Amino acid sequence: MEKRVVCTAATVAAVACVVAVLVIRKRSKGIKWGKVREMLKEIKLKCALPIERLKQIASAMETEMHAGLASDGGSKLKMLLSYVDKLPTGAEEGLFYALDLGGTNFRVLRVQLGGKEGGVVRQEHKEVSIPPHLMVGSSHDLFDFIAEALSSFVASEGEEYKVPEGKQRELGFTFSFPVKQLSLSSGTLIKWTKGFCIEETVGQDVVAELTKAMERQGLDMKVAALVNDTVGTLVGGRYEDGDVMTGVILGTGSNAAYVEHASSIPKWHDELPKSGEMVINMEWGNFKSPLLPITEFDEALDFESLNPGEQIYEKLISGMYLGEVVRRVLLKVSEEFPIFGDIVPPKLEAPFILRTPQMSAIHHDSSLDLKVVAKKLKETLGIHNTSIKTRKFVVDVCDMVAKRAARLAAAGIYAIIKKIGRDTLSDDKQRTVIAIDGGLFEHYTAFSDCLERTLRELLGEEVANSVVIKHANDGSGIGAALIAASHSN
Ligand code: BGC
Repeated sequence: MEKRVVCTAATVAAVACVVAVLVIRKRSKGIKWGKVREMLKEIKLKCALPIERLKQIASAMETEMHAGLASDGGSKLKMLLSYVDKLPTGAEEGLFYALDLGGTNFRVLRVQLGGKEGGVVRQEHKEVSIPPHLMVGSSHDLFDFIAEALSSFVASEGEEYKVPEGKQRELGFTFSFPVKQLSLSSGTLIKWTKGFCIEETVGQDVVAELTKAMERQGLDMKVAALVNDTVGTLVGGRYEDGDVMTGVILGTGSNAAYVEHASSIPKWHDELPKSGEMVINMEWGNFKSPLLPITEFDEALDFESLNPGEQIYEKLISGMYLGEVVRRVLLKVSEEFPIFGDIVPPKLEAPFILRTPQMSAIHHDSSLDLKVVAKKLKETLGIHNTSIKTRKFVVDVCDMVAKRAARLAAAGIYAIIKKIGRDTLSDDKQRTVIAIDGGLFEHYTAFSDCLERTLRELLGEEVANSVVIKHANDGSGIGAALIAASHSN
């Protein structure tokens, strides 16, 4: 009796399975795949970036770099002075702190620097996620939250981190938004990016805001340096490798900083620094050019964003937006063809529901039946029972969006290499190292591989051999602490 029940249950399951397969087959037969592919082909054509076009984009960026260095407001590229004119020598010594604010998480860090022979003796950090309401709330609440976390981090430190008697703790503050620096340790916020929007902070000195919040916490600490994460990455990278010339962030947001000759900065009117160099924070996310491959999906994304018309390059290449572009393409296709069934999946209509890490998991699925794609579509978008053709199609869309981003980012790096004259071989075969950090670069292998391939293509094999891309893991925090150290009193 029992056996018969089992048998019946198995039969029902098998029949259900066959029916499901038939339904999927029927549905996918109802899809005019030829037309779907044609639609994607048209979008791909708009996203296409042959090497010549990339070179033109790099030249356009280089022109904007010159304009931004000539005068404030001279270009969409702000080319901000960082006031960092001394790069680390390795002799930095003592206990320093860093605070890294720039995305959905922030990090606090303490690092004991051991001077010439010692290097980084020890370091510790803590990561705290920022509640979303604080990203669009009040300045006071955001800075209080940060200062509180910093204060509890300091309170928890062990004996080995003793600050010398009579010495105040010093902090390098990595603040990863566009800031007009007034000095190395002060600067006013130009605008928020990456989903932050607190109107009252714009125009304020963010160091003063943090200092007030630390005072409210009773924390005796001085902000010795205010740096962008790209500047921190460059400096952290240089500490390890003397040939680092550029720091690039490819994460939630995107940006680059590089070492410029101080004499090539016409808008710098003060005395030239002794080193003859100055690190420039490009704020390349705001680059815009008619040469950029902007589609209707990008236009709509921009229009509905918190900062329409701004950060156009960033919206094409950074982790905050890539998944969202994919979602918009899939939505449009599913409105015209039943690729996900007869109705448009309701979740697919929700902005930012498909994040870049999920897109990356879909893109990297190497299983024969693309089971990760199926799982992600189900979990994230509530789309069940997809056919292999549909899954392949979704992968194809991710591939298109990721490649466009990676090729554009490579063009940006190429523009910097040209600007500093490292796009031709020097007699002494000088190396040029690009330090890159950010989750997109670190975790999205198809993206980083494509970026590296494209950069080689742009440089040509011979020059490419003198250019090294290095992943600078969390270098920006250490970099900020190093800048604090080298400017410490
Ligand atoms: C900000 C930059 C920052 C970059 C990477 C952009 O949105 O404007 O200042 O360096 O994100 O974090």
